[in-house]
Amino acid sequence: MSIIKTIENLEAWLTDADHRNRTLGLVPTMGYLHEGHCSLIRAAKADNDLVVVSVFVNPTQFAPGEDFESYPRNIERDYELAVDSGADIVFNPEAGEIYVQGASTAVEVSGEITKKLCGASRPTHFKGVTTVVNILFNIVRPDKAYFGQKDAQQALIIKKMVRDLHMPVEVIVCPIVREKDGLAMSSRNIYLGPEERKQAVCLNCGLQKALEYLNSGSDDSRSVRKLIEVIENHIKGQDLAIIDYVRILDGETLEEITDIEPGKTALAAVAVKFGKTRLIDNRVLSVE
Ligand code: PAJ
Repeated sequence: MSIIKTIENLEAWLTDADHRNRTLGLVPTMGYLHEGHCSLIRAAKADNDLVVVSVFVNPTQFAPGEDFESYPRNIERDYELAVDSGADIVFNPEAGEIYVQGASTAVEVSGEITKKLCGASRPTHFKGVTTVVNILFNIVRPDKAYFGQKDAQQALIIKKMVRDLHMPVEVIVCPIVREKDGLAMSSRNIYLGPEERKQAVCLNCGLQKALEYLNSGSDDSRSVRKLIEVIENHIKGQDLAIIDYVRILDGETLEEITDIEPGKTALAAVAVKFGKTRLIDNRVLSVE
């Protein structure tokens, strides 16, 4: 097990007699690993002979003024956690390795799926994500790639890209891992002050309240407008929380819906700012 920094060394590792013709899982990350990332690595190890974890803070998915520079980094710690979770190698390239000089090609999924939710607040974000994931797929050539439901929109977009472009990789989406109090684990949680950290649990609680209301049997329990109100009212009860969005959309296409319809899934998604820290969370909603 080692940290590989260059594509040349990665290629040598992948084509080594011990690694050729083995099933390969890829877990793409931006590092500062936590239990959420580790759950993906464990899932990858359970399904594949070999697991590559990439740690790359991808500059193209951050807009100017976002936290690219200050994004938390600790490759030694990431390396330890990745090994403990079952990774065979950690691929930790420099930006110049991923983006060749003069690179001017991007991969972009169009339509509502990239315009809604985080695509509305961060209009260039997903183009950066799909481009880097594409590059990583081309370099690593995994059989399966693992993503978290925590970033539900990202997972839907990557699945769509893979389907649209007939990419020879299977996308596996793993459940959200939470802290004991229900806060979804995120590398950005360390930015939160003590009071913000306490209040941050409101994303999960608000979503939970919507789920309870949906199952309550009230006349308007399937109304998207009502369910959004339930979530918003809960989050607004926290004085440090500033809502970026609370939306309930079709669970596959992210198109607008007015009711939760039997047999279909809906995605309830929230983004809330605490100071400069923006947190996201979601729940899949469905009724029989
Ligand atoms: P990053 O935020 O590091 O997340 C890497 C993967 O871990 C993503 O698929 C994300 O959904 C998953 N993840 C994060 N927190 C999780 C949690 N609490 N439970 C389960 N899974 C969780 O997402 C990115 O990096 C980047 O956009 C990337 C795909 C690597 C492209 O640069």
